[in-house]
Amino acid sequence: MISKLIKERRSIRVFSGKKISLNDMNKIIEAGIWAPTGCNNQELRFVILEKENVLTEVLKFKPFFRGVSHFILVLCDMSIPLSAQIYKKKSPAQMMSDLDTGLAIQNMVLLAKDIGIDSCIVNLSEQHYKKEKNLSILQKIFKEFKKKFNLHSINPNSFEYFLRNFLQIPKQYKIRAGVVFGYGKNFPNIEKAKHGKNMIKRNPMENYIIKVNYAE
Ligand SMILES: Cc1cc2nc3c(=O)[nH]c(=O)nc-3n(C[C@H](O)[C@H](O)[C@H](O)COP(=O)(O)O)c2cc1C
Repeated sequence: MISKLIKERRSIRVFSGKKISLNDMNKIIEAGIWAPTGCNNQELRFVILEKENVLTEVLKFKPFFRGVSHFILVLCDMSIPLSAQIYKKKSPAQMMSDLDTGLAIQNMVLLAKDIGIDSCIVNLSEQHYKKEKNLSILQKIFKEFKKKFNLHSINPNSFEYFLRNFLQIPKQYKIRAGVVFGYGKNFPNIEKAKHGKNMIKRNPMENYIIKVNYAE
């Protein structure tokens, strides 16, 4: 039942190490492909990482993940004429590929849950840098400067820069997001678990509904 899957899917960070079969991984990717895309642009592409030596390097940026089977990167193909037109900065529709990415990922994580596979969405943003020891004050200031001005894609220590170079991703693909998949080992207790400042368990529905005039 889809309503059960929606509520029972959890972000899992510790996995058993068991590998997902090719057949199941294909089902997950297929679920992503069948998500809707703005203007039916179908611009999303997927990089499937499963080799242990590759996973070890990539997960250095997210060291708390353990026993992951696959790391999937979601990319936007900017070489499609419509992509170049609508996803450029300052275009009113520039956020559409982010929406498409989110929809594809949600299809993937729900399909995965349906076949007993757990997942966690991975933010690749500028907040994630390789830990650098013994930086001089000047280097620290420069690092903060690059963070502040969102220069992560050209910062050799940022996750995005690392992925593009390590995996030799051609320039025509914008890296949008990552998702890890595997068989969960540690599951949060939904009654007690928090992530950030919030409980993972969602609040009652009235907390999310904003009443405006003329709504009824
Ligand atoms: C866009 C997005 C980015 C996320 N990035 C990360 C991440 O980098 N690392 C992580 O551990 N969890 C990440 N998460 C998972 C959230 O922390 C998680 O969805 C939230 O705590 C609610 O828990 P739940 O997914 O179990 O309902 C991300 C989720 C989303 C939607």
